[in-house]
Order: sequence, then structure tokens, then C-alpha cells
Amino acid sequence: MSAVPCVKLNSGALVPALAFGTATRHWQKPCAQHILAALKAGFRHIDTAELYNNQSSVGEALAQWEGGKREDIYITTKCSWGKLDKTVPNDPRAALLGALKEMNIDYVDLYLIHDPADTQPHTPTEAWAIMEQLRSEGLCKDIGVSNFGAKQLEQLSESWKVVPAVNQIELSPHCAHDPRTQAIISTCKAHNIALMPFSALTPIWVKPDEGYNPFSETPGVGYEVEARPLDLALEKIGRNKRMTESQVLLAWSWQMFGGPIATTSDKSWRMEEYIKTFDHAPLSAEELALITEVGKQKYYRRYPEQCHD
Ligand SMILES: NC(=O)c1ccc[n+]([C@@H]2O[C@H](COP(=O)([O-])OP(=O)(O)OC[C@H]3O[C@@H](n4cnc5c(N)ncnc54)[C@H](OP(=O)(O)O)[C@@H]3O)[C@@H](O)[C@H]2O)c1
Repeated sequence: MSAVPCVKLNSGALVPALAFGTATRHWQKPCAQHILAALKAGFRHIDTAELYNNQSSVGEALAQWEGGKREDIYITTKCSWGKLDKTVPNDPRAALLGALKEMNIDYVDLYLIHDPADTQPHTPTEAWAIMEQLRSEGLCKDIGVSNFGAKQLEQLSESWKVVPAVNQIELSPHCAHDPRTQAIISTCKAHNIALMPFSALTPIWVKPDEGYNPFSETPGVGYEVEARPLDLALEKIGRNKRMTESQVLLAWSWQMFGGPIATTSDKSWRMEEYIKTFDHAPLSAEELALITEVGKQKYYRRYPEQCHD
């Protein structure tokens, strides 16, 4: 089986560089069989969330994974990006206890605040203090954030006792060049917070004229009829390196930002393809620069702008 490298977090913990996500393609749907297929393909990191409403699928997949142990899997989950029922207040402690019950485990490896805009009734700073407490109780090994902009990170830094281990953000060649993303990247670097990119493959599946559509369930389907800016570059590099387009983009993301990267699929052959990314020689400086430069031809962000203000 292909070996996926690990990322060392500021806590010293090692995290598999590719995470199998239970959203987007699996958004709010049971997906135990897909998680199981991902484990068989070689994924050792699962990225889920309270909001995805399918954490019990993680528990089911773990129970069905013959020969595998919970300790062999790195599990990331998040407390909520605004509950679907907005009348119920967000509560990081209740969300974590619920997640552990649904997954039938007694700790998660990484627990994130899903979105700074949706921590009410707490401020993000208050929510972070609760996260720190949960970590000290051993209910989660590490804590981090998601969708935090540079200013929001700086605000948190005024009172944090534990520096977030990661900031999970949308990061693709079509938004990496945005000044707000650049500010997040340098702020994370300054505080030794690992970037955890999601939607790294948007250049493949985004429609050339697509606007904000966070919950599109069928990325890629029917989009291939129109040319996208990175098509030629990905094809050229892929031919050179004998890699698929997805592998080229995952390699770009890994080499540029250091992962861990959250991706997903509902096809076992594609899960295997993602894992095999790391079997190939690294992209050259010229290949990385080509993707970076061509990516600037389009600005696209799938998730709300305010996440990065
Ligand atoms: N923290 C947050 O706010 C947040 C937001 C979004 C996502 N996430 C996490 O990140 C995970 C991944 O997000 P994402 O789905 O946006 O990631 P992505 O890696 O950009 O996209 C994955 C999709 O790309 C499609 N794909 C891959 N190669 C393709 C090709 N050659 N042609 C056509 N389609 C191709 C796959 O389609 P198939 O399924 O058909 O293989 C798959 O559904 C989520 O599940 C979630 O865990 C977090």
C-alpha cells in the first residue's frame, strides 16, 4: 500500500497528510461504506463535523473495518457551522460529547471550531477557552479552527493559552492568490499553525462561470464540457509526471502548504488514486509556479467570502 506522509503539528502530533471528508459529496448522508472504502484504499485520517450529520457513519465504518483499530485512525471533527436548527445554541462541549457517542469512541484527535461567524452565544474567544478546557480533559488530543481569517486569528491570539494546531480553510490555485488568503497563510506561519486545505481540487470540478454554491452535491459532473483555466497546465504536468489531474493538484497543495489536505470521493478507484499521489516524484519548482500563475487567472471561492475577511 502507498505510504502517505505525516504532518507534524505544533503539539508534536503526527497527522496523515490526506483526510477523507464526510461532507460535500457525502453532505448530510450516511456514508459508512464510502468511509470503509477510504480506509481500505489507505486513508488513515477522517474529517467530519457535527454539521455534516453523519458522524455515526464514522463509528459504523470503524466497527466494520476488519483488522483495523481506532488508534490507527486520525479523526478530526468540528463543532458547528451554525446548527441546522438555529434555535439550539452552539455548545462545543455538548457537540463533542455527542460526536464521541455517535462515533462510539472516547476521544477525537483534532477538534475544530467550524466557523468564527457561528459560535453564538459565545464569542470565538469564549468558544476557544471551552476548547482549551476540553483538550485538558483529554476528550480531544488537539484543538484548532476552521475558516478563520487573519484578523480573527490575531484576535484569538490575545487570550489563547493553547495555539490552534490547524486552521482548515478553502485553499486552491483559484483563491490562494487572494490577499486575504495570503494574510491567513502568513499569520498561520507566524504562529506555527498548520494550514489544512479543503476544496483543493476546485480547478478540476468548478464550472467556469460558477458562483457561490457551497452545497453542490455533484462536483465535476457535467462540468467537463467547458475549458477551465488550469486544464492545459494540469494535462501537461500530468503527462510529464504520469500523474492524474487530481494527483497534480494534491501534490501542488502538499508542496505549497504542507497539508494535511481534506478531500473526498464516492469512488474507491479515485480514493486509491488520491493516495497514490505520494508515490510520484515531487513537482518541480517550475511546475509549482505554472499552477500558481495560471491559477491567478480566475478568482473562485466556493464558501462564503466573510470567512476570509
Ligand atoms: N471546514 C469547512 O468549512 C469545509 C468546507 C468544505 C469542505 N470541507 C472538508 O473537505 C472535504 C473535501 O471537500 P471538497 O469535496 O470540496 O474537496 P475537493 O478535494 O476539492 O473535491 C472532491 C471532489 O472532487 C471530485 N473530483 C476529483 N477528481 C476529479 C476529476 N478528475 N474529475 C471530476 N471530479 C473530480 C470528486 O468527485 P467524485 O466524488 O465523483 O470522485 C470529489 O467529490 C469535505 O468532505 C469536508 O470534509 C471542510
